[in-house]
Amino acid sequence: MAKTRTQFVCQSCGSSFPQWSGKCDSCGEWNTLVEDNPSAGIGANPGKQMRKGQAVQLVSLAGETEQAPRIASGISELDRATGGGFVQGSAILLGGDPGIGKSTLLMQASAAIAGQGHSVIYVSGEEAVAQIRMRALRLGAIEQNVGLAAETSVENILATLETGKPPALLIIDSIQTLWTEQADSAPGTVTQVRNSAQALIRYAKNHGTCVVLVGHVTKEGQIAGPRVVEHMVDAVLYFEGEGGHHYRILRTVKNRFGATDEIGVFEMSDKGLREVSNPSELFLGERNETSPGAAVFAGVEGTRPVLVEIQALVAPSSLGTPRRAVIGWDSSRLSMVLAVLEAHCGVKLGNHDVYLNVAGGYRIVEPAADLAVAAALVSSLCGVALPADSVHFGEISLSGSTRPVAHAGLRLKEAGKLGFHRAYCSTARDEETSTAGIDVTCIRELTDLAARIASMKEKS
Ligand code: TYD
Ligand code: MG
Repeated sequence: MAKTRTQFVCQSCGSSFPQWSGKCDSCGEWNTLVEDNPSAGIGANPGKQMRKGQAVQLVSLAGETEQAPRIASGISELDRATGGGFVQGSAILLGGDPGIGKSTLLMQASAAIAGQGHSVIYVSGEEAVAQIRMRALRLGAIEQNVGLAAETSVENILATLETGKPPALLIIDSIQTLWTEQADSAPGTVTQVRNSAQALIRYAKNHGTCVVLVGHVTKEGQIAGPRVVEHMVDAVLYFEGEGGHHYRILRTVKNRFGATDEIGVFEMSDKGLREVSNPSELFLGERNETSPGAAVFAGVEGTRPVLVEIQALVAPSSLGTPRRAVIGWDSSRLSMVLAVLEAHCGVKLGNHDVYLNVAGGYRIVEPAADLAVAAALVSSLCGVALPADSVHFGEISLSGSTRPVAHAGLRLKEAGKLGFHRAYCSTARDEETSTAGIDVTCIRELTDLAARIASMKEKS
């Protein structure tokens, strides 16, 4: 008998090594190597007679296509993130921190879809049936058509599925708790996660079921199991939110059947997740309009404008190296804006601590926020509040000039709709400014904006 070869697989990046070591040479993480028995693959048994391959029929790229059949849940924020509903025969990974509300969202989606007469199977490896029922009761999501099981064996799950008609939607909560007999390692390891996901995705493709795999991702990225699934599934959604806030954002990072960068916004209440159809109102809800250091950024997520307040605090520092702390934005981007302010606008921040916060626990990924950040910083430094009815957007380049950003019209229109009267932006075309009905000022150089804000102080 051939000797079984063991290998050590990094749980963070998936690289394998013949020997254990404290640090993964590939990704540099510590204590992530776990012993693993590789399952048999191509070439695993050289003595065996290999089956000769069969030719497949090639088809022309220019052929008939049909729209992917979808099942919309009716929860519009969820449907927006999935690109219009769950595609039959596809696999979705729903990732997020533990306790963020993944099970809650999927339970509500299951009930909504079952309510339309589709069959849904919800398999939980984390909670007992009674617990899930209790949650469903609280959510008002008791539906006859949802089949429930507390199970962790992939073979048992597949056998259960074979006994009846394939469901329209299959929820697996979570992929880290599953184990398959095809692999010898413990549940949650890369091999187990990969093999289990493969088996379920194969089922989905063969039976036209949409399978949703839940994956926990901790803040430290410790259990990176779900990462290895990302390339196997058709869509990857991340559910995110800040601990202290009750907003939750469902972000699409990959979608083979729709657009990425879409977001769905929810609010966690005692009766589960509630849709937020106008996120700007939510993010601007608690605004203090007269305090210095706050600027409203007119952002865009996918196809949807989102207005959000950026708060900055610039205070004299007692430390040798002043502090820079950012929540909700990229810290290297902040460093860049600070450097441009120093170098081109004569705004001296070298002896000041700088704190930047995006209100409402929201996270901005667009570079278009540069101008709003700069405005908030200068406003805080000068101690003068920006006009309450103004919004800002625009990218800043290292030379101190501004650069145009996409969807200017969309941003301006949303600002106009929400009662803002002024916009400071990099550039906007005439037709975009005329339809929005607000006063648009183009800022070509960041110095102009800094000087404008400083002059407000002198006037007041
Ligand atoms: P859960 O869906 O179990 O999170 P996950 O599956 O991502 O781990 O949600 C858990 C949190 O949500 C928990 O802290 C309680 C809160 N919650 C509510 O506030 N209201 C509700 O109606 C429900 C069901 C949960
Ligand atoms: Mg859960």
